[in-house]
Amino acid sequence: MTGLATLENPLVEGLERLPADPTALCIFGATGDLARRKLMPALYNLAHEGSLPERFFLIGVARGDLTDEDFRSQAAEAILTYSRRPPDAAVLRALLEGARFVPGSFGEDPLYDALASALGDCDAQAGVPLNRTFYLSTAPEFFSVIAERLGAHGLNRRENAAVRIVIEKPFGTTLAEAKALNRHVLAVFSESQVFRIDHYLGKETVQNLLAFRFANSLFEPAWNRNTVDSVQITAAEDLGIGGRAGYYERAGALRDLVQNHMLQLLSHVAMEPPVDFSADEVRDEKVKVLRAIPLPTEDGAFRMAVRAQYGPGVVGGEPVPGYLEEPGVPRDSITETYAALRLNVESWRWAGVPFYLRTGKRLARKVTEIAIRLKPVPHPGFTQQGSIGAQPNQVILTIQPDEGVSISLSAKIPGTRMRIRPVLMQFLYGSSFLSESPEAYERLIADAMRGDATLFTRNDEVEAQWRICDPIVQAWGSTPGPLPQYSAGSQGPPEADLILRPGDAWRRI
Ligand code: BG6
Repeated sequence: MTGLATLENPLVEGLERLPADPTALCIFGATGDLARRKLMPALYNLAHEGSLPERFFLIGVARGDLTDEDFRSQAAEAILTYSRRPPDAAVLRALLEGARFVPGSFGEDPLYDALASALGDCDAQAGVPLNRTFYLSTAPEFFSVIAERLGAHGLNRRENAAVRIVIEKPFGTTLAEAKALNRHVLAVFSESQVFRIDHYLGKETVQNLLAFRFANSLFEPAWNRNTVDSVQITAAEDLGIGGRAGYYERAGALRDLVQNHMLQLLSHVAMEPPVDFSADEVRDEKVKVLRAIPLPTEDGAFRMAVRAQYGPGVVGGEPVPGYLEEPGVPRDSITETYAALRLNVESWRWAGVPFYLRTGKRLARKVTEIAIRLKPVPHPGFTQQGSIGAQPNQVILTIQPDEGVSISLSAKIPGTRMRIRPVLMQFLYGSSFLSESPEAYERLIADAMRGDATLFTRNDEVEAQWRICDPIVQAWGSTPGPLPQYSAGSQGPPEADLILRPGDAWRRI
């Protein structure tokens, strides 16, 4: 299938992957949910495509008394359940046959002694000093502890090989926590060794935002306050919180999706063209956007941000409970499952253009999109009867599902009269590239092992994101509930309209 696609479609040439040096990948929290659902399947798919380093060693680290063999069969089972392609037995065997398991408590020294010895064995087997990538897929309270212990055991650096640390989200739950975590990690590792995950950056469609803007001369002249009327970014989900009440209660929609994924989308839309697409040039430009967003004041937070919780409703024809009835959620919880914000980017390019962000669980459907609405034409002369008329153009970048870009244009309806209506011009990934996009984690794991930090969040970037969300978190935290409710399966709370400029409307989800 791949061979056929390559022959027929020259565009798929761009899908090949780059090699990585011999590496030992140590996953802390290797038996946890993220590792099972995302990391193991991503490793399998990298292996399937020949994109793992030629000499690759997998070490799982976690509490629990597993043998190497138990770990291998758990990993195989996770891959069988969650891989985007049905696993090939030979590839699966080759991936897991040398996998090891190091049990222990993340704060205790024997774990690191055992890890150092396992890493030494891998080096001996490889015949070279392997690069080491430590992937922290644990509860966040262990991030600092593990970084510090790795340092104490001299595992943070080595001669003739690269050592890297990958840190999962959430990177703190407040600005102060994010700063403290940066301080702890950077006391042991240098910034160039640190890879903070935001899995949205691994999505092809998010990366395509940069290609769309900076590899075409068509859009950039219009990409500013003179032509753009508003920007609307939506990350809607139809699912509820599932079994994640413990995590979600402490997070809420703002921390879970806005602070990281949605602000990344905003930065990609609003950034200036970087000098080149190297990690720091791109990240410098994104940080400038975040710094140009004025901080909400405590009062202002209520004028530019709205929160709500899903109540019971119907999703996919099935009745579903409200957030307060979900197992593990306190009946008086004031954790928001929906957040909508209006932000401004005070720069020459964007002053005066509202950036609307909204995200929520249990909305009408799953869709992540960015809608750029342009200003209306200055003189809409088409007033013939039966004409919908010239509507403002919209550029819709659909991140998922139905990945692609569509542009609404005004066109003449065929016939003798000059009747105008909006039509869509569309690019769809699926049909142009004839291949399934890789999962975000495949790209991110491969990039971390290659040492390319472009798709990872830098220390100042994560702090700039928190700087924007912190005042809203504080304002919301200090106001009692209950929160406004919206029916599961709906468009969200009517209160979200309150932050819109007069005349603006939320797009239909
Ligand atoms: C995660 C959040 O970061 O992103 C989840 O913790 C959310 O709550 C998920 O469901 C959404 O990711 P995606 O890739 O499905 O849009």
